Amino acid sequence: MNVSALLEQNYDSHPAFRFDAPAFDVEQSLVADFDNAYKAVCRFGGELNPSARGRLQRQAKAALDEVFRTMAAQCSDEFERIFVSELAAECARLMAEEFAWYIRPPALGRLRLDSDEAIEAAVELSTRRHVLGRLPESIVAELQAIAAADVSKFEAAASAGRLRRSDLSVDRGRTVRRLIAALNRAFASLGMLEAVSAYVGRSTRVVGLSLELSVAQSSWWKNAIEGLPRPPQTLYAHLDESISFPKAIVYLTDVTDSHGPTGCYPQVYEHLGCGPLQEIVGRVVGNAGNDPRSPLHAYYAKAYHQSMASEPFRRHFMRLPRPLRFNSHFGWDVMPGGELEGEVASQERRMIGPAGTFIVFDGARLLHRGGLISEGRRVALQVVFSDITLSRRVWGRLKRTVGWA
Ligand SMILES: [Fe+2]
Repeated sequence: MNVSALLEQNYDSHPAFRFDAPAFDVEQSLVADFDNAYKAVCRFGGELNPSARGRLQRQAKAALDEVFRTMAAQCSDEFERIFVSELAAECARLMAEEFAWYIRPPALGRLRLDSDEAIEAAVELSTRRHVLGRLPESIVAELQAIAAADVSKFEAAASAGRLRRSDLSVDRGRTVRRLIAALNRAFASLGMLEAVSAYVGRSTRVVGLSLELSVAQSSWWKNAIEGLPRPPQTLYAHLDESISFPKAIVYLTDVTDSHGPTGCYPQVYEHLGCGPLQEIVGRVVGNAGNDPRSPLHAYYAKAYHQSMASEPFRRHFMRLPRPLRFNSHFGWDVMPGGELEGEVASQERRMIGPAGTFIVFDGARLLHRGGLISEGRRVALQVVFSDITLSRRVWGRLKRTVGWA
């Protein structure tokens, strides 16, 4: 599987990504300076002494600043300059968050893997970035009963044609707190909390979730880039922004191929082989111009919050030097009928099964997508694990990064 070369080739040959302006020129050694410091922090973070940490952090930040200064000097207009400066700020923010995550001391001796199930799930998570399972029927019935009143409300909204996410989902309040408590009990009894904790390296549990109704909609294809004969089969495939929050999807209704099963693409992330700075760029590049106060907001005029649907955004994206060019939501960018589409689509594993079927996964390192529902209805929980109690502010931002808001 040569996804990395196919992805480059995809951008080179995709008509929607063809622009005259050359890519910015950035010295390879600067990128290497960043990448080496990052890798050291990522690999040895918790064990580094404070002076080593500080030095590596300064080396990475200095390289990052220089990379973006070099690009800014090559901009041909004000919009490009703003793009580069917004991207620089976003990369610096994510770098600081990831460094803070890696330098937290590991929870030595506090993790347990008491059952065979927990051991198996932990190994599966660390080798394949996901683990599939099924909740016991009694738990499924309990979750369905807790959710019933809200689901009825969503169904009434859908019947009345109100299809916004806020009409069809809930992510706070009493129902959600009760669902979280029931899920934590269920995942604990299956050894899943132990497995996730072992994977993360810290004691972890369910801290948030969104209860969602999905119904068949005829407009999902509008999210594709205009002018193509059909959307790519990889539409919606993406990696999440945050590296520190494992996720789960739990079905509360039976899901077949036409009910929008969750799909994942094992090993595609590994085969992309992105460098650290390239990966950071990829996770945040789609945020450029999202702030309504940004001059890029009106300039891009992104439809459906989808960056690549905007031609000016695509032009800016293609100015990025190859070693840094990456979009973690690249499922939208795939040319229908091209080699990349065939290769990635053939890797997809769809989660089909009765109510109670679940997947626990590392959304930052497992390419995945929500299903495109073509008939009927689907009720599911989007679940977030963490080792911290989320403040309102973190929860708000997290919802944006997981795409709930
Ligand atoms: Fe996601």
